[in-house]
Amino acid sequence: MDANILIEKILNKKAIIGILGLGYVGLPLVLRYAEIGYKVLGIDIDADKVAKLNQGKSYIAHIPSAKIEMSLKQGFEATTDFARVSEADALILCVPTPLNKYREPDLTFVTDTTDMIVPYLRNGQVLSLESTTYPGTTEEELLPRAESTGLKVGEDIFLVYSPEREDPGNPNYETRTIPKVVGGHTEACLEVGKALYESAIDHVIVVSSTKAAEMTKLLENIHRAVNIGLVNEMKIVADRMGIDIHEVIRAASTKPFGFTPYYPGPGLGGHCIPIDPFYLTWKAREYDLNTRFIELAGEVNTNMPRWVISKTMDALNERGKSLKGAKILVLGIAYKKNIDDMRESPAVALMELLVEKGAIVHYTDPYVPVFPKMRKHHFDLSSVDPTSKNISSYDVLLLATDHAKFDYDMLQKHAKLIVDTRGVYLDACDNVVKA
Ligand SMILES: NC(=O)c1ccc[n+]([C@@H]2O[C@H](COP(=O)([O-])OP(=O)(O)OC[C@H]3O[C@@H](n4cnc5c(N)ncnc54)[C@H](O)[C@@H]3O)[C@@H](O)[C@H]2O)c1
Repeated sequence: MDANILIEKILNKKAIIGILGLGYVGLPLVLRYAEIGYKVLGIDIDADKVAKLNQGKSYIAHIPSAKIEMSLKQGFEATTDFARVSEADALILCVPTPLNKYREPDLTFVTDTTDMIVPYLRNGQVLSLESTTYPGTTEEELLPRAESTGLKVGEDIFLVYSPEREDPGNPNYETRTIPKVVGGHTEACLEVGKALYESAIDHVIVVSSTKAAEMTKLLENIHRAVNIGLVNEMKIVADRMGIDIHEVIRAASTKPFGFTPYYPGPGLGGHCIPIDPFYLTWKAREYDLNTRFIELAGEVNTNMPRWVISKTMDALNERGKSLKGAKILVLGIAYKKNIDDMRESPAVALMELLVEKGAIVHYTDPYVPVFPKMRKHHFDLSSVDPTSKNISSYDVLLLATDHAKFDYDMLQKHAKLIVDTRGVYLDACDNVVKA
């Protein structure tokens, strides 16, 4: 099919948008395309998620169910039936890209999804990969699979890569207002991809290839991982010198040019920053290159939970207590403030280290009422109510995630000891230790 026919169909909103993977990335896209008048088909292998969404129920805290209900009225439908891929004109892949146990890219979600849609691909579709990955994935994995159907990419079917940018819980940006980068396999692919995203996103930035688009996303996330590693290392140095790193960051941030603040914490969390950089590390080896900044930042960031635990031990020691047998309440276990996402949360690493050392560990998190089932971790716990009575019964409150919903004054008033990994408590007080 001529690219212009598909572009026309997209611009006229006659195109059906298929989103594969209805997670943190896929679901907001569903809502956006439905909101502007497209029929949207959401496809996921998770039957529970699909059933919930079809009942108008959200399963992500920052996406209200009312928005799902509205999108169903506007023409959204979720399904587990991959045969329906043939109905869609655009197929946008938003599936996970984790690391395997050797910390190497695990592309199986991307390749499995592609294998599952291949039997239903047809002339006149655009296939867009949004999952974060190493440069070359679209050409090496998606292109041959798409062409195994006999369809020619750039002529019958169009292939693009467009990385997702999301900052869950940030009220200043929404899908429409976050600029989006797109690269196409051919010029025609790019034109179709541009039309697909310009219909939904205010600002679309075109790059010369799918590889450049893949690398763009990695640069963004590596930039964060490396700078967070740097500031975490600075925190350890400052602490040893008796300097409060948060005071220093606040002061440095007054420089009107050439400085961007990054904030230290108990480690790195989330689906992206601790994982994505290693996609490049792995691919760079194929070119006989080492990504030393990435490895170094990874090393510093991975060691942060251990450093926090040693600070906690020291603080207890000074009070004549040992970590073994101490009652510890972890404040906030989501990977960052004001959200419910637990993926790669450093709080979980802290909890595991504490248990390993014989502490009695509980947690409180307004966003995580029950400790969820996680692939690698399990705690049979539910969130403790942070009442003054409960708070005062713990030897340590370990502040891992600084949710705005916590009453920090009340906590400080009733806690025996707070270990603050986020710089919440600005002024020195007897029962607060910064870590
Ligand atoms: N979460 C973020 O803030 C964010 C931001 C930018 C980029 N990304 C990237 O986007 C991608 C998706 O991340 P996410 O956070 O949305 O993941 P997620 O785990 O929230 O969602 C992925 C969804 O894909 C589904 N799925 C798995 N295999 C499938 C298959 N074969 N077919 C159809 N659906 C399948 C899962 O059931 C799940 O619902 C990743 O590559 C991630 O690195 C995420």
